[in-house]
Amino acid sequence: MSDRLFLAVALTDEVRHGLAAFLGERVIRLPGRPTPPDNWHLTLRFLGSTDALQRDRVLEFLDEHLIVQPFILGFTDLGAFPKPSRATVLWLGIGRGRGELTAMAAVCEEAATSAGFEQEDRPFHPHLTLSRIRPPVSVEGVVEQVEAFPLKMEVDRLTVYRSHLSRSGARYEALDEIRL
Ligand code: 2AM
Repeated sequence: MSDRLFLAVALTDEVRHGLAAFLGERVIRLPGRPTPPDNWHLTLRFLGSTDALQRDRVLEFLDEHLIVQPFILGFTDLGAFPKPSRATVLWLGIGRGRGELTAMAAVCEEAATSAGFEQEDRPFHPHLTLSRIRPPVSVEGVVEQVEAFPLKMEVDRLTVYRSHLSRSGARYEALDEIRL
């Protein structure tokens, strides 16, 4: 038996609701398939298919090696992968706390490889996915229209999520938490 897992920072309800309202006041409709606010999170490491042994190994590694202290996270404005003129992912950027998030992601990467996962070759770009877009379109208009999101939140834990895929979309279930 294996589950589709990923490691992430969950949003506080204040930021989740605040961001939904902030975007709703500025953008009539996001391009592509917007991610539902209930699914918003900051991915640190996507693991994919994970068996019970691997999951235990990842959790043990994080328990032992995640020594980042709780920190304040801030956001910036919108951006896109690979670029706003031809976007496949529209995201909200991270400002304050980027360094700590990157440090968390680096420990997650080590936890993953210690449990036998292939090393991730792409550099870590902290972001909050707001919409997935296929085929790619320009999101330059939306990016220009929205200023930086002003709320901040305290990050004091890492969350292990299980992703349930279905025809109606993904649902993410928090399985475990590791306190900072
Ligand atoms: P994204 O938001 O940038 O698309 C759950 O699917 C989370 O894991 C998403 O936030 C997704 O990032 C991230 N992720 C990273 N690599 C992935 C992959 N190969 N397949 C699915 N999700 C991935």
